[in-house]
Amino acid sequence: MASFQIRGGCSLNGEVRIQGSKNAALPMLAACLLSRGETKLYNCPHITDVYNMIKILENMGCSTVFCGDCLTVDTSGNLSGVISMGDGASMRSSIMLMGAVLGRQKYVSLPWPGGCSIGKRPVDLHLKALEQMNVSIRSDHCGLECTTPYLQGKDICLPIPSVGATENVILAAVLARGTTTIHNAAKEPEIVDLCHFLNEMGAQIHGMGTHRITINGVKQLKSISYTVMPDRIVAGTYFAAAAATGGNILAYPVKEKDLRSVLDVFAAMGCGIIIRRDQLQLIAPPLLLPVESICTRPFPGFPTDMQSQLMACLTAARGTSVICENIFEDRFKIVPQLEKMGAKILVNENKAVIRGGCRLTGSCVSAQDLRGGAALVIAGLMAEGDTRVEGSGYIERGYEDICRDFSQLGAGICRL
Ligand code: EPZ
Repeated sequence: MASFQIRGGCSLNGEVRIQGSKNAALPMLAACLLSRGETKLYNCPHITDVYNMIKILENMGCSTVFCGDCLTVDTSGNLSGVISMGDGASMRSSIMLMGAVLGRQKYVSLPWPGGCSIGKRPVDLHLKALEQMNVSIRSDHCGLECTTPYLQGKDICLPIPSVGATENVILAAVLARGTTTIHNAAKEPEIVDLCHFLNEMGAQIHGMGTHRITINGVKQLKSISYTVMPDRIVAGTYFAAAAATGGNILAYPVKEKDLRSVLDVFAAMGCGIIIRRDQLQLIAPPLLLPVESICTRPFPGFPTDMQSQLMACLTAARGTSVICENIFEDRFKIVPQLEKMGAKILVNENKAVIRGGCRLTGSCVSAQDLRGGAALVIAGLMAEGDTRVEGSGYIERGYEDICRDFSQLGAGICRL
């Protein structure tokens, strides 16, 4: 896998455009299967997870054209309900295809989903919900096979507000018989965007963004054109890089309400935040303040996808900070890599105590997952000397071109 070479010690300054959201585009690509025709997704990011999803859709019989930021998916043909081993197993969001393919074909078989090494990432909530909706599921060590004579709307209570399970139930419910109500639904902005997309296709979804989402099943959906929301985690990552390097950047488009909890933390660390409609500017202080304790939570809490990037920033803060990871049990994999660069971090179960005041030194480190990889790039920008981040493929799963964007902001970074 390729790597990034980073020269540390320069601050990020300037303007940067934010790509379309990975975690909105992926469920929308699955949703294309619920109509027969040509769907156009604008502002679709050029990232590996999208390319993998395209491969899965094409293997099922769809045809696609990705021109500029517009991805066109034609689902008018007869499609297979089989997701081949090579593709589905390579990414987490393949599980999201279940609800959509069942909605269209009443049959789907797929491998157990792959994904980052940030935790076990079970899919029990997805399967339990679909079984409640009249789906019978057979599974073995290879994967899952699901069939239904018809999908039946039901009251689904999620024990945890799982993003993926909420999305899968929505995708299964839009063409089901009757009404589905999801209790304790996830409220992430990407789910709200997915629901707006589906409603424009003709679905009847209410309550998105709240803990109770209601879907009245309809007979069919039409293929439409739609613009994907900006990626709030990419924006947050770039703000973290600016904060960590004493920089001053303006990012657009960014929806301030999608990043409120992240911006509040940066403000508490001494950063100035200027909001002008869909442009957000972050001005870093000469020295970051520590955060007494930050816990990751489902939206609108602090997002787990920003936890590693914040950890990198806090290594240089003036004092000790504590991060508590409540979503994924294995998201501290990045700690030994930061320690190689001189960070002082103590991990105890789901808590990490970061001793600030460290001047990181350049080293050769390796990414273990998508957001941890982005955090190592931030650490490289902060460090004295040169850093090589191995495993850039992890980062390219979710970031269109972090090299291009950070170079544009004045960083010395290149892809080897
Ligand atoms: C989505 O993953 C995102 N991925 C993740 O982003 C994000 O970190 C996560 O939501 C939380 O916000 C996509 O949207 C493609 P969950 P997902 O179901 O759906 C447990 C990134 O970096 N759980 O909300 O897999 C699970 O183990 C990625 O862009 C079950 O126990 O997250 C976790 O502890 C990483 N059983 C918690 O719920 C289930 O059936 C939250 O997971 C499902 C989940």
